[in-house]
Amino acid sequence: DSEVSFASKLISWQKRYGRHDLPWQQTRDPYAVWVSEIMLQQTQVAAVIGYYQRFMQSFPTIASLAMATQDDVMQHWSGLGYYSRARNLHKAAQQVMEVHGGVFPQTLEAIQALPGIGRSTASAIASFAFEAPHPILDGNVKRVFARHFAIEGWPGLPRVEQQMWALAERLQPAQEHGPYAQALMDMGATLCTRSRPRCDACPLQTTCLAYREGRTRELPASKPR
Ligand code: ADE
Ligand code: SF4
Repeated sequence: DSEVSFASKLISWQKRYGRHDLPWQQTRDPYAVWVSEIMLQQTQVAAVIGYYQRFMQSFPTIASLAMATQDDVMQHWSGLGYYSRARNLHKAAQQVMEVHGGVFPQTLEAIQALPGIGRSTASAIASFAFEAPHPILDGNVKRVFARHFAIEGWPGLPRVEQQMWALAERLQPAQEHGPYAQALMDMGATLCTRSRPRCDACPLQTTCLAYREGRTRELPASKPR
């Protein structure tokens, strides 16, 4: 069955071919992981690195970010785009100070309650910082799922998204939650790309339904109009 070894194949692939040298991979500080995940939400890895390093240099702790002026925070974000991310990050840092005594929360519910953090980002932070067993489901992961399991329908539809969250829960491995989350992200970004996926180099090729049926171009379905 195509669900059985899904996670272990990805984790093995990640160990051999994935990236391990990115600045936010050198730490388990939840604050550092959080900043990186927010920057990476709508921005490519290569563009994020410099911004991440300058941001962490200027605001090394949640307390320092909470105390900074909005102007100072926005200046560090200038050029990255999607500026609500920076406003939410600043506001969330102040919330962590007030509600959690300056300690980044550990439960998925409390992490998700912070401004700018949805379910998938909360799970990514918990996986990387705390090795917590929570599944991620971002745009890249939805594309991998739609193809590998031949899931019909546009992944933006609530019905399809709900089906994918249930699948993500079933696929979650018993350990290596951080490496598994990173494997899904890297594999979706580098192999299972939107156009011309590199199926020949893919560790999931033997179980991928879209590959087997020659449907990688039609899956995932596009937004109905
Ligand atoms: N996109 C979102 N989070 C990421 C991460 N940790 N590594 C690479 N790409 C990402
Ligand atoms: Fe994506 Fe191709 Fe791998 Fe299937 S075999 S998961 S379509 S890269």
